Amino acid sequence: MKAYTQTQLSLTVNGRSVSIKSAPITRLSNVLREELALTGTKVGCDAGDCGACTVLVNGMAVCACLVAVGQLQGAEVVTVEGLAKSSKIFDRLQKSFLESGAAQCGICTPGMLVSAVALLEKNAKPTETEVMDALGGVLCRCTGYRKIVSAVLGAATQKAALPQPESGGPVGKRLVRLDGARKVLGTDIFGADEWPAGSLILRVIRSPYDRAAFQFGDLRAYVAANSGVHAVFTAQDVPGKNCFGVIAQFADQPVFAEKEVRFRGEAVAAVVGEPEAMAEFNPSTFPVIWTELPALTTIDTALRPEAPKLHENRPDNVLVRGRVVHGDVEAAFAKADVIVEAEFETGFIEHAYIEPEAGFARRVGDRMEVQACTQAPYTDRRDIATILGIEESAVRIIPTAVGGGFGSKLDLSMQPFITVAAWHLRRPVKMVYSRAESIMSTTKRHPSRIRCKAGATRDGKLLAMDVCGEFNTGAYASWGPTVAARVPLHASGPYKVPNYRALTTAVHTHLVPAGAFRGFGVPQGTIAQEQLYDELAEKLGVDRLEFRIQNALDNESATCSGQVMGEGVGIRACLEALRARWQEGRRAASAFNSSAQGPLRRGVGVAGMWYGLCRSSRRAD
Ligand code: FES
Ligand code: FES
Repeated sequence: MKAYTQTQLSLTVNGRSVSIKSAPITRLSNVLREELALTGTKVGCDAGDCGACTVLVNGMAVCACLVAVGQLQGAEVVTVEGLAKSSKIFDRLQKSFLESGAAQCGICTPGMLVSAVALLEKNAKPTETEVMDALGGVLCRCTGYRKIVSAVLGAATQKAALPQPESGGPVGKRLVRLDGARKVLGTDIFGADEWPAGSLILRVIRSPYDRAAFQFGDLRAYVAANSGVHAVFTAQDVPGKNCFGVIAQFADQPVFAEKEVRFRGEAVAAVVGEPEAMAEFNPSTFPVIWTELPALTTIDTALRPEAPKLHENRPDNVLVRGRVVHGDVEAAFAKADVIVEAEFETGFIEHAYIEPEAGFARRVGDRMEVQACTQAPYTDRRDIATILGIEESAVRIIPTAVGGGFGSKLDLSMQPFITVAAWHLRRPVKMVYSRAESIMSTTKRHPSRIRCKAGATRDGKLLAMDVCGEFNTGAYASWGPTVAARVPLHASGPYKVPNYRALTTAVHTHLVPAGAFRGFGVPQGTIAQEQLYDELAEKLGVDRLEFRIQNALDNESATCSGQVMGEGVGIRACLEALRARWQEGRRAASAFNSSAQGPLRRGVGVAGMWYGLCRSSRRAD
């Protein structure tokens, strides 16, 4: 990469004159965070897509990651840290965000606040549409936006943003979160926001193929030829066990692949150097030769008897199977008046949290400290100890705020690389994933293929259900065992199914590992089950909601695994609460059907009311 000449620039940041020496093409976001320590400005994508980096430049909200600092001679920049001084509305806005629950993980909050101030300074009484337009460039993965829009409107009108429930006590009362103040001040510390002085930077060399053999060239010569690069680490540098995994008995993922990579994006080596050197880092010059190999990318190819095995100890490429059987399914189907059968598929889903994985590690004597965004500090500690070959008590995990995790930050990501490097180099080592790296290498929701069959009596009583689910668990175990084992327990939905059989399989392929994602496979099962019940109700000629109310579990009925809850089962009340809206919708649909516009296509049924858009495809009747 070309080294650019540095230029001296003067600008005003949060009311203070600053002079910076930087290459003119340096992103403003980098200058704010790295040079001026204003880490309230977040970086989610570095590409102008997420809006987390929004700041004011001469009063206009802009993405700091897209502004070259060379354009800013004499400009006035305001970040979230400067809003308190520069804007009279900010105090009200912060309070409104807290009261409305508009700052959840908080990673988008600075960008939202800056955009809201830009609007309210020009338009003190915006409409809802104007608020939505003004905030439209900032993405939030936690709130669903309603609370944020309400908070901005609330700040403008000086009314409570959202009505408080009349609970009179703590139950149902909206609470201001304990760590909320830090989020609306922009002072919360996320994974990329703090690092010790003198930290080295780590970059990972990843496979460009789903499956490949590889061979390194002369790594010593590579280090010697690249000034500022201190070391390259590979599998042979892992001091303990080159293996980790969130469920210990299934641990199978290497820190660095040995001989062969099992998914596109898998790490084979790490390069560590001084920040200036690593800013110029070009992975294409790294000495590695890849030999692409035929990859298994579908469940069907992976289950063929002649398929290559991903793991020695899993000869059929099956990670785990799940099973729940209750009653006599075949006999019940023989008695059923109506039977429906279908197959549903769902694909990979990326968690897409706004905060990419980030953190630093430092060796303290013979102990290791890791500060990173994580949802699971204790399993991190166990696995880091295994990787380094030291006692768990010698590992300290310091979790930062998590800018969205949704299950994926239960697994390790950058931590194994930075700990191996910091262990050997005895210097702090920092890593921040790029958005592409985050999407490429971290766990996803399991793609699924679920065949299911359900039968009922003519009067709408569910008799039996038969489920066969296959989950593409990717190259490594992660939370695959939990997903495959949990789905059979949930695939009947919250309904009475007296005869039930659910068999599931988690299958290894040469794809990115699938892991935890809100619900551990339950959404995939539910998408199939609820759509199947829609079809069953339709075939019975009964209302889809009434069919569910008729078959809903109650305190004394047994679940598909035979468990009787005894108390607290509220599904019937929930379904009954939908009745008025459901009937209203049915009337509207029927009026529409009989209008000149023709019949409504079948589609969003009760399943749609519950789950919004189901991203599944139906394969066959
Ligand atoms: S838009 Fe700048 S970091 Fe995403
Ligand atoms: S609160 Fe918006 S991304 Fe988490």
